[in-house]
Amino acid sequence: MDHVPVLLQEVIDGFKDSPTSKSSYYDGTFGRGGHFAEVLKEFNPDLCIGSDGDLAAIEYGRELFKGRIASGQVHLIQGSYTQFEELKEENELLRAPFDLMLLDLGVSSPQLDQGDRGFSFYHEGPLDMRMDQRQSQTAAGIINDWHADDLIRLFQDYGEIRRPYRVVRAIVNDRESKPFETTKQLSSLIERIEGWRKKGSHPATRFFLALRMAVNNELKGLEEGLPQLMKSLNDGGRLAIISFHSLEDRIVKNIFRDGLGLGFAVNKKVIKPSQGEEKKNTRSRSSKLRIFQRGEKQ
Ligand SMILES: C[S@@+](CC[C@H](N)C(=O)[O-])C[C@H]1O[C@@H](n2cnc3c(N)ncnc32)[C@H](O)[C@@H]1O
Repeated sequence: MDHVPVLLQEVIDGFKDSPTSKSSYYDGTFGRGGHFAEVLKEFNPDLCIGSDGDLAAIEYGRELFKGRIASGQVHLIQGSYTQFEELKEENELLRAPFDLMLLDLGVSSPQLDQGDRGFSFYHEGPLDMRMDQRQSQTAAGIINDWHADDLIRLFQDYGEIRRPYRVVRAIVNDRESKPFETTKQLSSLIERIEGWRKKGSHPATRFFLALRMAVNNELKGLEEGLPQLMKSLNDGGRLAIISFHSLEDRIVKNIFRDGLGLGFAVNKKVIKPSQGEEKKNTRSRSSKLRIFQRGEKQ
């Protein structure tokens, strides 16, 4: 499935209102380049840099923006926005202060659709879930090695599952005789224990979400990454963050409200997708947008 960018018009509108020349843009979650392409079309910045932990995303983008890469307008880098300072050391271009910056958190549709990435319980594949395949921690590693109490806390905190006890007990029991290797192995265990209610989402949904967030250290990464990006904004520059999880949004809200003495949250209220977008793209339903601007409020 193609990746349909969420809150696209809202991001563009938020960028339009920024008091800068909009001539430099950094996208820390390039994905399939949906937002990236629209920002290019709308503002045509002189310098556009995209990064993503996932090499497949970067390779896709290198093909898509071949011409603009050759002309020096577009640069695509494999790496994580969470280590922006390190990326800057390796790439001089990232040292430019940016007028526009964007994070669209989470996974892309192609990542979910490719069974061999292990993100989805709908596809058989290795229990992997790494966005950046150079990292060693995988979902199988967590399921097979973590202590039961840590698994319970993980599913409660990240998955917001109130009673994951029976599933965790079954995991700990089953892994003794056969370590978990595949997505289906885990999702069928969850189905067996939790049952498949006709209404609502698949019982494995929140377990898989929690695991993915732990594998990729997503919350801590966001907490560490945001200040680095805020400091890399130009005066008047804007940083837009799209999140999909209440814990992510809380981090964004708190850091933007505090502002680190650098600037302010542009919108008092969080921006959500329209009903029309929610209908057309179910993935947008939990999405939230917050925008930060560097400098003094006028
Ligand atoms: C929702 S997709 C972005 C889609 C993109 N905005 C588009 O319209 O095509 C999120 C992307 O960010 C990447 N990503 C998420 N968290 C990351 C992190 N902590 N470090 C590096 N990449 C990350 C994922 O690999 C994925 O490709």
